[in-house]
Amino acid sequence: MQNNNIIRGFSKLSRQEKIKLITNQLNLSEEVEGDLDRYLHPTDQSLFSDISENTVSNYYLPFSLAPNFLINDQVYIVPMVIEESSVVAAASKAASFWAKNGGFKTKVINTQKNGQIFFSWNGPIEKLKEYGLEIEELIKKATDPVTSNMKARGGGITGFKLKTIENMDHTHELLIHFNTVNSMGANFINTCLEKIADPLIDFINEKAELQSLGMAEHIMSILSNYTPECIVECSVQCPIEQLAPYSGDYTPKQFATRFKTAVDIAINDPYRAVTHNKGIFNGIDAVVLATGNDFRAVEAGAQAYASKSGQYRSLTQCELTETDFKYTLKVPLALGTVGGLTNIHPMVKTAFKILGSSNAEQLMEIVAAAGMANNFSAVTALTTTGIQKGHMKLHLGNILTSLQATNEEKTLAQEYFTNKTVSHTAVQDFLIHCRKQV
Ligand code: MEV
Repeated sequence: MQNNNIIRGFSKLSRQEKIKLITNQLNLSEEVEGDLDRYLHPTDQSLFSDISENTVSNYYLPFSLAPNFLINDQVYIVPMVIEESSVVAAASKAASFWAKNGGFKTKVINTQKNGQIFFSWNGPIEKLKEYGLEIEELIKKATDPVTSNMKARGGGITGFKLKTIENMDHTHELLIHFNTVNSMGANFINTCLEKIADPLIDFINEKAELQSLGMAEHIMSILSNYTPECIVECSVQCPIEQLAPYSGDYTPKQFATRFKTAVDIAINDPYRAVTHNKGIFNGIDAVVLATGNDFRAVEAGAQAYASKSGQYRSLTQCELTETDFKYTLKVPLALGTVGGLTNIHPMVKTAFKILGSSNAEQLMEIVAAAGMANNFSAVTALTTTGIQKGHMKLHLGNILTSLQATNEEKTLAQEYFTNKTVSHTAVQDFLIHCRKQV
């Protein structure tokens, strides 16, 4: 059966040809073509086009700033790229509050990244482990030509383990540990793994004792996005009484107890844990994106880390004493400040200029603080006024924009909805009413 909608050779077409083809095939209006043209960059388009493939336009997201992040006694203005309207406001509010209350204290616990070489072999892994020193030498020899720069910067291969894959007796891995210093390190790790894979297989197949147990075969080699050792810890702490600005109709003590209960629920209930952690990632992803890091890698690794006990749980925990409130986030963040988009995307370069000269460890600390700030604001709102009050106020702006409200109408609407429930219909009715008056 032939499907006439299958497109062949799309990537070979020019941008204009691509657009013509899809507008014909999908019967799209000229408006679509106009939009694709309108969001092209007037001077730097080739730079953006080259970041991906089959680029026909650009997709704009706001580049925002959250000021007043006091982290380990240094103040940062944090760039955030995000489409959800309340995130930057939530981050800024929490950052300003904590700046007056000691700031965020962060600590990078480790920066280890990992790569995996998988192979099949009928022998027991314990036998191969007996050749640990020779394998270490083999790894060094295979990667010496590609690791000199990284070593000069203080990084390189830091260790390895041989393991059999669970439930797969004849499938094994050489798990290799890396320090990639300030770079994300994906290319470095993958290059090293591919250099090691063939010599490793040859080693097994040429060593009489190992060969007699079976021939080894390489299956695949790739970095792992599970980085449970690449961890940063971020905490905030203050006397409970200081929480008064957040406690709404509750006393600071009642508020702190309700806050801790909410966090404990997220530790123990996976449905809530996912939403709670999503609030953390509102902040984390926005800074990861602004700094050109791989947000899918960060998400995949950290979500898996949240399940390391066998159940998905909150990444934060709250401790209360009679007098003090302490809130801590522990999260794996494999980030880089060099390589990848950091040398290419003009707004990523700008983001780093705004942050000040930050190395990968500093970036881990800033990103963790942004995650904590957003989560603190979310849990605070949830346990006091409820989330919709603040959310819908910001959402009102989006509804007004989508209904093409003028600046004057926007001001009137913000005033009118101060103490009313915001909904798309209510805003629409309000605008109809306004427009009838003129
Ligand atoms: C919305 O983007 C994030 C929240 O749902 C987070 C949370 O529930 O903690 C408000």
